[in-house]
Amino acid sequence: MPRYSITTFGCQMNVHDSERMHEVLRRAGYTEAGGPEEADVLVLNTCSVREKAEQKLRSEVGRLARWKRERAERVVVVAGCVAQQEGERLLKQMRAIDVVVGPDNIPELPGLLGDVALGGLPVARTVFDLDAPRFLVASPSPSTRAAATAFVTIMKGCDERCSFCIVPYTRGPERYRASDEIVAEIAALVAAGTREITLLGQTVNSYRDPLGALPRAPGASADDPDESEFAALLRRIAADVPGLARLRYTSPHPRHLTPSLVLAHAELAVLPRHVHMPVQSGSDRVLRRMIRRYTRAEYVARTRALVEAVPGLTLSTDIIVGFPGETEDDFAATLSLVREVGFKGLFGFKYSRRPHTPALKLPDDVPEDVKGARLARLFEESEALLAAHLSGLVGTTQEVLVEGRDKERGGERGAGGALWSGRTGRHEIAHIEGAGELDLLGEVVEVSIARANKHSLQAELTEAARAAARQQPRGDAGRPARRSLPVVAAGGG
Ligand code: 5AD
Repeated sequence: MPRYSITTFGCQMNVHDSERMHEVLRRAGYTEAGGPEEADVLVLNTCSVREKAEQKLRSEVGRLARWKRERAERVVVVAGCVAQQEGERLLKQMRAIDVVVGPDNIPELPGLLGDVALGGLPVARTVFDLDAPRFLVASPSPSTRAAATAFVTIMKGCDERCSFCIVPYTRGPERYRASDEIVAEIAALVAAGTREITLLGQTVNSYRDPLGALPRAPGASADDPDESEFAALLRRIAADVPGLARLRYTSPHPRHLTPSLVLAHAELAVLPRHVHMPVQSGSDRVLRRMIRRYTRAEYVARTRALVEAVPGLTLSTDIIVGFPGETEDDFAATLSLVREVGFKGLFGFKYSRRPHTPALKLPDDVPEDVKGARLARLFEESEALLAAHLSGLVGTTQEVLVEGRDKERGGERGAGGALWSGRTGRHEIAHIEGAGELDLLGEVVEVSIARANKHSLQAELTEAARAAARQQPRGDAGRPARRSLPVVAAGGG
């Protein structure tokens, strides 16, 4: 049986696509190798959103030429956004590559590999499924324990035209999945033991049901062009899958943060108190040149409405520094926005020119060292906000969904005994100490926060949670019965 290995770069959508490639390959008779050294087929699932990500692929393929020479039948597959962007060109540029497969062509991967194994020429398959969009569906295996968290794609592609962004080119126009299918997939995952679902889409909250099967959500306006059916979908999932503990989504666009979505957050307990809402810049001049289609004031008003509707809700964001023409004043406006909104998490990037993007017309005129300095100031600001937030949680009680055992025993600071880790309702990472003997995977447990690390929390089970966990039978090696530990109302924070 041929063995494969997948290396994933980039966003959650790529992580999800990689999981589907695992399933497609396993169904076709491949087995997963312990690592690239043992593999016959190596898949690189690539990202091209920033230049650095694309360079990573090129250096990786360079190294693979030697790996290939060790055994004649070895095969290199390039998938993901660089595959979609470059197509055939990749085969010409890098001789080590045998198969190039776009995100919409993943189901065809075994067939393409079969052709190559029979001596076929290197092949590229990067065709968008515009007429009959396919969505790759998780097929939970009955013999392995379900992951506590899972991704479900609800839409793909992007109709925005943000001037810096390559995604409309690499992922095509927006295509939506029927709400019935989405609900059925989530119900199956939850029945298999998954507790948290993250809905995925490039602009996830522009969702509309392609079959028109959703009723209008409360608060939805018929004549607001920014209105979508996303709130209606959230309500349907909450109603139809009562066993779901948490329902997240990524990445939304601020334009579609409409009153109907705010109301859904206020009313649906399954929506956690954290939203990642990319803003990109705090300067109206830059936002206009980025073609973001909202102003700073609109972003602030919309996120403020959300926080007012859900007290304690935290926001995180994405920011680009050094966009063409960004002045010190523009950057100062971004810093002031970060303080004004009080983001508790921030992904910051130096602008990089991407092929096929409208911003190519603008000169990349902010020097590299200035971009670096701005990014450092941005991180300084956001780290300070996060540190203050995390230390404010010490001594409070939180609910943590346990996602797995800490990879590195002891958690972030090597504190003795931390074995389990998970996320609070606001997505803060929590390492749970002193519960190594208990089986907590997939449980929502009550913890008290003992200490704050730089980016995470050290926590201990409360006495009530410990007593409840002890009374539960351990899950057997097969699929364990899902148990819900009694959780006392979370306090603090
Ligand atoms: N340069 C720098 N950052 C970019 N991003 C997207 N395109 C670019 C680019 N050309 C960032 C945005 C986006 C995140 C996923 O990547 O902040 O939200």
